[in-house]
Amino acid sequence: MTPDYQNYRAVVENAKDLPKLSSVITRLLEMIKSPTTSAADVGQLISQDVALASLTLKLVNSPFYGFSQKIYSITHAIVIMGFSRVKNLALAGSVLRSFKPTHTEGFDYYGFWEHSMATAITADVLAQAIDSDYSDEAFISGLLHDQGKLIFVRYFPDEFAKVRKLIDRQQITMREAEHQVLGFDHSHIGGWLAEKWNFPEHLCLGIRMHHAPLLARQHRQLIWLVHAADVFSRALCIGDGGDPFIPEMPQYIWNQLRLTPERVGNVFENALSGMARAGDFLELVRAG
Ligand SMILES: [Fe+2]
Ligand SMILES: [Fe+2]
Repeated sequence: MTPDYQNYRAVVENAKDLPKLSSVITRLLEMIKSPTTSAADVGQLISQDVALASLTLKLVNSPFYGFSQKIYSITHAIVIMGFSRVKNLALAGSVLRSFKPTHTEGFDYYGFWEHSMATAITADVLAQAIDSDYSDEAFISGLLHDQGKLIFVRYFPDEFAKVRKLIDRQQITMREAEHQVLGFDHSHIGGWLAEKWNFPEHLCLGIRMHHAPLLARQHRQLIWLVHAADVFSRALCIGDGGDPFIPEMPQYIWNQLRLTPERVGNVFENALSGMARAGDFLELVRAG
């Protein structure tokens, strides 16, 4: 990588006011890396933090999941949804709350999260449609795939202004414009933050590789799912993906994910219906 890359990375890593995750989430991320941690340990940790537990339960009980009875405890949520999904929901809620709204010209903060949410839901639906091993991880990976953009816009506003101009003038994607201005793109920046936050490896890679799916070596299917969900959510015109274009998805990914026109039609339908029930998630970013 160029010296510029290292300089930019150092600016981000040393920034004093980077969004911070709560200490419980930091502890949770440490715990899930340990092979001796049980579902009960994680459930207990979330339950002990009143704010985190109530945030998680609010999402569990939201119309997005549509459970017929109210779920009052984290333990109950784990029984109904499984440990991984509850853990990821706690993480999702915390991360959504950690970012502060960015008011930068040419950047639509709420539209950004709508695009992220649509990608999360589409990745989730797609993972279930193909019965993926990553069914529990697709949602959070889709939700955070573009987190690097928030850091880019906030810490490098001059470069972002140049990127915006290039998108308009040359009619290219945000990623292509970023490569012209920076020599790399927001997926790298998102990867720096994911590593700094000690995210699990699959989540780091889902974020870092979402624009380079053909280069994936580990956790490949998760990366393919996030890539496809990003393209599909742009095709569905939900939120602001950074530019008005729909990137072409490599045929290899279509084949690997066993995508047929019929399956894609179903995924679109389910993603749209999920999006219509996702108000409680988006409220977290609207509240700032
Ligand atoms: Fe992206
Ligand atoms: Fe995206």
